[in-house]
Amino acid sequence: MASITPRPLVAGNWKMNGTTVSLKEVRLLTGMLKGVRLKCDVMVCPPSTLLSRINGLTKSSRVSLGGQDCHDQVNGAHTGDVSTEMLEDAGATAVIVGHSERRADHGETDTIVASKAAAAHRAGLVSIVCIGETLKERKAGETLRRVGAQLKKSLPASANSKNTVVAYEPVWAIGTGLTPTTDEIRAVHRHVRKGLIRALGPKAGLLVPILYGGSVKPSNAEELMAVEDVNGALVGGASLKAADFIGIIKAYT
Ligand code: PGA
Repeated sequence: MASITPRPLVAGNWKMNGTTVSLKEVRLLTGMLKGVRLKCDVMVCPPSTLLSRINGLTKSSRVSLGGQDCHDQVNGAHTGDVSTEMLEDAGATAVIVGHSERRADHGETDTIVASKAAAAHRAGLVSIVCIGETLKERKAGETLRRVGAQLKKSLPASANSKNTVVAYEPVWAIGTGLTPTTDEIRAVHRHVRKGLIRALGPKAGLLVPILYGGSVKPSNAEELMAVEDVNGALVGGASLKAADFIGIIKAYT
């Protein structure tokens, strides 16, 4: 779309998967990336319980760390929650906010997502803001309107090109093996790009990476990552095994 393009990011969202047994996958990943010329950044978002352990393994590697969710307060009486300051302390440099599973399982609204993203920025973390339509919305022809509205309401005033990444993840494509066509992805990403330019201005709006997420795997990564305005991937299932994740990262070698 433009001469200024964001640095792509391939981020692995482990979701509620992973114990200390999974540390070996991180060792494999950092080993495989050594000496490889990469045209993207690589991130792993494990469960909070593993952040510190994985930080010990990735500190001097090219793999950065992210959390999967956060509270919008610094601390306090919020049993079970994790603050952005805690994530930062454990070694994260980013946090996913507004994943559709959080929106569905925990009733998170765009307003909540925006305040979580603001909390990430306050702690010096990058917020990876997730948006995406349901199958019902897609069938009703409401995809662009839905995604545009989510973007507008989920970005806090503190968002800029250095602290924000957007992930477009059609809910119906997550974990299903289904993906939109490249034309469908191009249309949504172009719409998101326009929304970012409207929200952040032409310069910052062009520099925010827009990731695609939903059934990205080694066999489709190259095709999906080549779509205009796709600046990387948010990967669920295929990020759990280093060999699969590397197969996706290879789209950027
Ligand atoms: P998936 O998940 O790659 O397993 O479809 C993507 C995501 O939910 O981030």
